[in-house]
Amino acid sequence: MKIFVWDEHFITGLERIDEQHHFLIDLINRFGNSLVASKSMEDAELVSVFGQLADYAKYHFSTEESLMRECALEPRHIDMHARHHEDFLSQVTSMWRARTTMSNSVETLHGFLCAWLAFHVLGVDQDMARQIALIRAGKTSGEAFEIAQTPLDRSVDALLTALRKLYAVLTEKNQNLAQAYEQLLILGKLKDDYLAMISHEIRTPANGILGVGELLLDLCPASEDRTLYANLFEQSCLRLLNLINDATLIADMQKLTLKSGAAISFPNLLEEVRAALPDIRILNKPSTALNTVFLKGYPPLLKKALESLILLAASFSRDKQSAPMTATDEAGVLRVWLELDDLSLSDEQVVDFFKIESSVRAASAAESLGLAPVVAYQIITAFGGELRLLKGKGNHDYLEATFLKEKTVRENFMNRVH
Ligand SMILES: [Fe+2]
Ligand SMILES: [Fe+2]
Repeated sequence: MKIFVWDEHFITGLERIDEQHHFLIDLINRFGNSLVASKSMEDAELVSVFGQLADYAKYHFSTEESLMRECALEPRHIDMHARHHEDFLSQVTSMWRARTTMSNSVETLHGFLCAWLAFHVLGVDQDMARQIALIRAGKTSGEAFEIAQTPLDRSVDALLTALRKLYAVLTEKNQNLAQAYEQLLILGKLKDDYLAMISHEIRTPANGILGVGELLLDLCPASEDRTLYANLFEQSCLRLLNLINDATLIADMQKLTLKSGAAISFPNLLEEVRAALPDIRILNKPSTALNTVFLKGYPPLLKKALESLILLAASFSRDKQSAPMTATDEAGVLRVWLELDDLSLSDEQVVDFFKIESSVRAASAAESLGLAPVVAYQIITAFGGELRLLKGKGNHDYLEATFLKEKTVRENFMNRVH
C-alpha cells in the first residue's frame, strides 16, 4: 500500500493546522496498514483505527471552522469550506458502511482518503490560510476573499478547479448510489423477514393438517381410490414441506453462505447427489481430471444446488428421468452443462425463470420443484457462480452453471500430488 507522503506544498503556515494535518496523515497511513493486515473488513483493529480517524477528522474540521470565524473570514468561504468538510464525512461514512460489499474496498477507501486530503489541503485549506494571512496584514474580509480568488499559479488553479468540479459530480453520483444501495438492503431485509415469518407461521398449521390427513387416510377402508388419494396426499405433503424448507433457506441465505466447511471436490459432490437421486440417470460421467477440482462454497449448500439442477434438468427431459451432464474445468471455474430435450419455454420465459416472483416455473414442467430452482440460483450466485437456461437450435437447450473453484485447496492438493 502506497503511503501518503507529506511535502512542503501542504504547509499552510498555520502551526496548529499543520500539526493536525500531519496527525491526520499519520492516521490515514496507519489505517492503510491495518487495511492490508486485516483478514476481514470487520477486523477489530481496523474498525478502531477507522473510528479514531473519523473522530480526529471531525475535531480538525471544527478547529478550522472556529479559526475561520475567529479571524472573521468572508462567510462565502466559511460556508463553502464547511460544506466540503461535511461532504467528506458523509462520503467516507457511506463508503465505510458499504465496505463489505464494495469491490477493491481496501484500495478504494485508502485511495479516497489520500486523494481527498491532498486535494482539500492544497486547494481550500491553502485558500483559507492565505485569507487569514491577508486579514492579519490589515485587509478586510471582503478584500482578502477577492485577492484569494486570484490564483498564485494559473495552471495549478485550473487543475484544482477541474478536480473540484469532478469531485462534486462524483460525490453526487456516489450519494445517489449509496442511497439506492441502502434502500435495496432495506427491501432485501424486508423480503427475507417476510419469507422467514411466512415459512415459520405456515409450518405449524401445515404439520397439523398433514397429521390429520394421515389419520383420515388410515380410517379409510382399503380400496383403489384410497391408494390413489394416499399417493396424491403424500406427493402434496412432500411438495408443501419442500416449499416451506426452501422459503426458509432463501430467507436465511445470507447467513448460510457465510458458513464454511472443508471444501469438496466436484466428483465427490456428484457422487453424493447421485446417491440422493437414485431414480435419475446422470448420463455423462465427468472426466477423472476433475478429481482435482474443488468448489468454492459451503458443501451442504452446494449439494442442495446441484441436486436441484439435476432435478430441474430431469423435469425438462422427455422421459423425466435423464440429466445428461458435461463438466469442464476452465480457468477459475467449473462449468456444468445439462442438456434439455424438452424445455418448451420462450426466450422471455427463460430469462425470468430463476426470479423468485416469476410465474414461469409454475406453468412449466418444473412446477413440482416449487422454489428449488430459485434456491439453486441463489446458492450458486452467492458463491460467485452463474446459472442460466440457454436456448439452442431445435431441441438442443441447456442448463448452464458455473461454480467458482477453491484455489487454495486445489493448489495445496496439486502440491501434495507432485
Ligand atoms: Fe484541513
Ligand atoms: Fe479544511
